[in-house]
Amino acid sequence: MAAPAPQVLTPTPSRILVVDDERSMREFLAIMLTHEGHEVVAAANGAQAIAALRQRPFDLLISDIRMPDCSGIDVLREAKGLQPDLPGILMTAFSSTQTAIEALRSGALDYVSKPFDIDEMKRVIAQALERRHLRDLAPAPGDVATGADDGRPHACDSMIGRGPAMQRVFALIEAIAGTSSTVLVTGESGTGKEMAARAIHRLSQRAERPFVAMNCGALTETLLESELFGHEKGAFTGAMHTTRGLIEQADKGTIFLDELGEMSPLMQVKLLRVLQERRFRRVGGHEELAADIRIIAATNRDLSKMVAEGTFREDLYYRVNVIPVALPALRERREDIPVLARHFVQRFAREMRRPGAELSADALEALLRHAWPGNIRELENVIERAVALEPSASITLASLPDHIQHVAPASAPPMTLVAGPTPTGSSSTATAFPAQGFDLERHVQDIEREYLAEALRRADGVKMRAAELLGMSFRSFRYYAKKYNL
Ligand SMILES: Nc1ncnc2c1ncn2[C@@H]1O[C@H](COP(=O)(O)OP(=O)(O)OP(=O)(O)O)[C@@H](O)[C@H]1O
Ligand SMILES: [Mg+2]
Repeated sequence: MAAPAPQVLTPTPSRILVVDDERSMREFLAIMLTHEGHEVVAAANGAQAIAALRQRPFDLLISDIRMPDCSGIDVLREAKGLQPDLPGILMTAFSSTQTAIEALRSGALDYVSKPFDIDEMKRVIAQALERRHLRDLAPAPGDVATGADDGRPHACDSMIGRGPAMQRVFALIEAIAGTSSTVLVTGESGTGKEMAARAIHRLSQRAERPFVAMNCGALTETLLESELFGHEKGAFTGAMHTTRGLIEQADKGTIFLDELGEMSPLMQVKLLRVLQERRFRRVGGHEELAADIRIIAATNRDLSKMVAEGTFREDLYYRVNVIPVALPALRERREDIPVLARHFVQRFAREMRRPGAELSADALEALLRHAWPGNIRELENVIERAVALEPSASITLASLPDHIQHVAPASAPPMTLVAGPTPTGSSSTATAFPAQGFDLERHVQDIEREYLAEALRRADGVKMRAAELLGMSFRSFRYYAKKYNL
């Protein structure tokens, strides 16, 4: 009985170019990928590969590095010239750190040493296609920050977001960071407002100066005033010393006014004055001090509605809302859930010393279905809990809280689930393509069986529906189900 192979996610069928001078490897990859529903073009050398790339665009290039006519790195470079966004996976039997670095420098997304573990190869391919699929959604790939996990420095620091909504936010942040304009960051709780504010600061010329955050909702009016403006000695009972407020502490830097919507009417007037005149006075002080600060405010409330209701000053609203940065809710950018989830898995796995922690496909599907009212913070907490409570390396559906496990499946799954069985069917490890070959027919049958079983699971055992999911007639499905004893 074949050991259950890891399940990987892959988007819809793609066009893949396989380049290898070794015929058996070309054919092996072609069979494997064709079986997974992809369209494969196999090239025996660099020249053939480039000719194929000139004819039609591809979704993925998989190339050997060492070939007689040219290197796979050259093929990838050439390919990028024709199709800059083409992801490439390079393979080599002569692996060294140097080759790996060179491969990644040449723009390869990933790098695989031969002989490779088939499941590992499948995972790498599925990830490349998934990334490609997600990047297709973005308006200008490569132009703006795309997240922290791909090893390159990013303008927006550790903010992750590959979909178009976050790409727009990153582009906006980059565009406005250099100015000193006041920014109003809006978005539901947990969408990353403070993170965005910090990114703006870090990208600005004020980056070397302090970023001072203040929660306008956390303090009483008197304390807030003293906190913000500071106070003179003896200004009120208990004011033993003259104290600098946050505005002074943030001198030439940025002040982050969080939960601005919670600010009392009196404080709103005082803040308005700072915004208008760039001057302020310490509590109990007479001297006018200059406020050289950039103000970034944030709120999860609808300030324009508060203005209409008379609970927020209209003049202050216009002063603050100079550059609005609206962060989308996570449910409006579900395409970012996989990359965020994996990022958090990696982070908590590192922090909790759980090397190799991974998210299973069914867990990811559940995450993709959940509505995330608490947005990224909620996702972060769910993953932290899952990593902490899961003794094994694999974070499965069962590691997630009940209310996330049991969300009703959407009518169409967001991505296709592909189960990759092991080719030899005899061991759970050591599945590298064996030099003596392997039983392809049996491998194909294993794959067939996995698909049928998965379709039945998804169709809650209703064969008619499972047949539909696999695009086959009920008769064919019944035939296979019988053959595989399902
Ligand atoms: N784009 C992102 N990529 C990675 N992590 C993120 C991103 N946005 C937010 N986070 C993480 O999510 C959590 C919530 O972010 P943040 O505190 O900035 O949100 P917020 O909008 O200020 O929330 P609240 O309204 O509750 O104050 C933080 O731990 C932050 O690190
Ligand atoms: Mg916040």
